[in-house]
Amino acid sequence: MSAQKQVRRITVPQIAARKGGEPIVSLTSYHAHTAAIVDQYADFILVGDSLGMVMHGMESTVGVSLELMIMHGKAVVRGTEKALVVVDMPFGSYEESPSVAFRNAAHIMKETQCGAVKLEGGKRMAETIRFLTERGIPVMAHIGLTPQSVHTMGGFKTQGRQEAEWEQHFEDARAVSEAGAFALVLEGMVEPLAAEITRRVAIPTIGIGASAVCDGQILVLEDMLGFNPKPPKFVKVYGNLGEQIDQAVKSYAEEVKNRTFPSESQIYR
Ligand code: KIV
Repeated sequence: MSAQKQVRRITVPQIAARKGGEPIVSLTSYHAHTAAIVDQYADFILVGDSLGMVMHGMESTVGVSLELMIMHGKAVVRGTEKALVVVDMPFGSYEESPSVAFRNAAHIMKETQCGAVKLEGGKRMAETIRFLTERGIPVMAHIGLTPQSVHTMGGFKTQGRQEAEWEQHFEDARAVSEAGAFALVLEGMVEPLAAEITRRVAIPTIGIGASAVCDGQILVLEDMLGFNPKPPKFVKVYGNLGEQIDQAVKSYAEEVKNRTFPSESQIYR
């Protein structure tokens, strides 16, 4: 009998085949417990480098390391069995050259057992995307507002407000699609631009702050759960986890201080 664990996850070709079809559901997750919940409903789970800001209190995603992505990627893969797990390549791990990108992407895939990686950038990353996909590494691309470039963009700004900018985004979308990316995240862009990119490219577009016209949607889990006191303006908040945690911690603290903490719950069984 084989000792191998048989896991039937959603595959990269299955996600790619959803272009123009049933909308793709995705969320970020960074740890095993939340990933297990998300796994029931999502087609893919992104271990986004937003974890640097959401979990580690960084000001941007620029400081996120490969090791951090691998640690959280492993946790998410362990906690899930159905969704495709995609791990973000952090800033500095792929821009230098296609071979550096390959080495780091292969390291992420071997260590985490994820099914694909994501990297930011359009035309300038096309050669790297081709290099990776030709060597067996599925790549999800990410254009529009690309948070790793926050310092060159001068902040987190909605893209495409001026029609004159659109051609650059069309070129980016075409370049990554032709280079072999299996899906394309469109972040922070005006709806008509996202709609036109979605119409033009042959791969599914996944929107975040890019309207409902995309082939799928992604949100940062903590934002939509109400765990971020200042979520981005476009986020619909579906839960109130921040308040619930606050209430729970407050009740616990009061019980401990007032000596009303139930004594049976202090016994390790
Ligand atoms: O890092 C992240 O969470 C992302 C999503 C916002 C798409 O890249």
